[in-house]
Formats: sequence, structure tokens, C-alpha cells
Amino acid sequence: MRILVMNGPNLQLLGVREPGVYGAQTLAAIMDGVVAHGKAAGVAVEWAQGNIEGELVSRIGAALGKFDGIIINPGAYTHTSVALRDAIQGVALPVVEVHLSNIHARENFRATSLTAAVCVGQICGFGALGYNLALDALIARLRAVKTGKDRA
Ligand code: DQA
Repeated sequence: MRILVMNGPNLQLLGVREPGVYGAQTLAAIMDGVVAHGKAAGVAVEWAQGNIEGELVSRIGAALGKFDGIIINPGAYTHTSVALRDAIQGVALPVVEVHLSNIHARENFRATSLTAAVCVGQICGFGALGYNLALDALIARLRAVKTGKDRA
């Protein structure tokens, strides 16, 4: 099983960026944790970060045939990007949305996610742990689908 973890704009600044909101860990440290979590579960995890909307869209499309599922923190594009939503819907892979912060407890504009409705589910508010929770959920979904115990 191969999972792609995608991170959107400004997440390369983790560790420096508003640590009171997003925590003190760097993105690389968080991703090392997710890769290790996947390894313990027998799952290969690759990760990427990009600031450019079109590049993220292309990367989602290119995941087809290479990955079994995607975890994505779309950053601010969560709240604005119809293109990312269409890419997620179009690629026909299970996708889990993650946010470090609880987007429902912040500014009103963050409470709307254009992408969540085309994802399997959304995990937010648990900081870096959210990525591991998303990985567990995605693995469970993929294994259930494989054994015919859950919907695709
Ligand atoms: C975020 C929440 C978004 O609203 C924000 O634009 C981010 C990070 C989060 O992980 O909490 O860049 O996706």
C-alpha cells in the first residue's frame, strides 16, 4: 500500500509560522513521524509540499496508478480552490483532509472547506497527530474496501 501526503501553501514554514496555532514542529519532523507511522503499519508513505495551486492539482492527478490514497492539508486553498476539489473528485482515490488547527474554531472564512465534501473525511484540531490519525483512517478504509467490508 502506498500513500501520498500532500501539504499546501505556507506549510513549509511550520516551526516558525504561528507556533501557538500550528505547533513548534517543522514540516519535515512531522512528515518523518508520518513516514515512521506508515512503516510500522507496513505502508509506504511519500510526502510533498507545494505553494502553487496548479502544481498541487497536477500532483493529485499524477497520483493515480502510483498511490492507493492521499492525505492532504490544502492549507488556505481549502477555503478557495474549486480546482483542488475537482482534482480530488476526479482522481477517484480515497482522500483524507487534515488541518493542524481546528478550522471551525477560527475566523469564519476558515470554517468553509471546498474540498472536504469530496474527501472520505476531515480531521482537524489535533495538531501534528492529525496526520497519523488520517493515515490510520485511510489504511482502515483501504483495507476494508479490499476485503469488501466497506464502501469504496
Ligand atoms: C491549515 C488551516 C488553514 O486555514 C490555513 O490557511 C493553513 C493551515 C491548518 O493546517 O490548520 O495554511 O490548513
